[in-house]
Amino acid sequence: MTADPWYRSIENQLLWPLPDPSGRAGRGRGRIQHNEQTAPGLWRLALHLPGSWGPPVPGQFVQLQATVPGFFRLPRPFSVAGWRVEDDGSGLLEIVYAPVGRESQGMSRLEIGAEMDWTGPLGAGYAILKNRRALLVGGGRGVAPLLYLAQCLSDLNHSQCLLYGYRSHEERWPVEPSIPFKEASEDGSRGRKGTVLNLLNDGIDAGEIHPGRDALYICGPTAMLRAVSVWNEGFGFPLQVSLETIFGCGCGLCAGCAVPVRGGEGYGAYALACRQGPVFPAEKVDWDGFVE
Ligand SMILES: Cc1cc2nc3c(=O)[nH]c(=O)nc-3n(C[C@H](O)[C@H](O)[C@H](O)COP(=O)(O)OP(=O)(O)OC[C@H]3O[C@@H](n4cnc5c(N)ncnc54)[C@H](O)[C@@H]3O)c2cc1C
Ligand code: FES
Repeated sequence: MTADPWYRSIENQLLWPLPDPSGRAGRGRGRIQHNEQTAPGLWRLALHLPGSWGPPVPGQFVQLQATVPGFFRLPRPFSVAGWRVEDDGSGLLEIVYAPVGRESQGMSRLEIGAEMDWTGPLGAGYAILKNRRALLVGGGRGVAPLLYLAQCLSDLNHSQCLLYGYRSHEERWPVEPSIPFKEASEDGSRGRKGTVLNLLNDGIDAGEIHPGRDALYICGPTAMLRAVSVWNEGFGFPLQVSLETIFGCGCGLCAGCAVPVRGGEGYGAYALACRQGPVFPAEKVDWDGFVE
């Protein structure tokens, strides 16, 4: 179990056990099964891993590094977007990614059969409350871990709904999830015109969403996480956010991923997003001190 006192206090209410942050993640080399563009600027990659790996907790990430000379100088963090064990016992890890810089652009040029070094699963994932419907709240292209979360919740027949917001259709995830789904676009090109806050307020006004019955699990741009966290101060939903910062080592050594947190047992002024996160209870994050 995770050492964090907040998680310890809700341990017996959780749908699945949380990983032990002091436990050792595995590492090895996997072969790419597919790596293709699925929408403008968006790629999907599947990597063969041993079937005995995992299963990762949704919200955890892997550090990936290509073995091709000239591509990757540093491993980079990517959320687990899917994981399954195939009939032959081998495992398939799926990630979705945007080629934004040198390493991720290099990754988009890797061909089927190329190899990548992986380390993981790493970090703390979502702590899902058993007795509450899960409202998955995603923003833009930051919904990768929510895809895997939805997959795990579906496998357990746990009640869930995805609320998905984005600026315009270019930032929209191209996959239609097979779970209840509402969407909002800021430019009104699709779904409700507005943001996820409009979707949440609509749901509350219609009596479909209630702080006593639902819990929120969010991933997306920091501005959105902050806005929903501030909004939630008036409602009190159990709320967990997945924070994306710039990671160096990805395993608690460099302190490059430190995020400001509010005091309390087990937290100083900063927490390491790669180890104590990337998922945090929203009320632990010091949003005023957070620099994007
Ligand atoms: C816990 C975690 C999970 C992540 N999961 C995913 C994922 O599932 N899919 C995915 O595509 N990316 C994900 N990322 C981001 C991914 O790690 C970065 O995009 C990647 O490290 C960029 O490396 P690079 O060398 O290509 O770019 P760099 O050369 O490092 O940066 C190039 C440009 O991209 C920008 N950039 C770097 N990191 C980010 C970021 N996190 N968000 C937005 N812009 C960034 C930089 O500011 C810079 O302008 C995740 C990051 C974290 C911390
Ligand atoms: S990325 Fe190095 S300590 Fe978190």
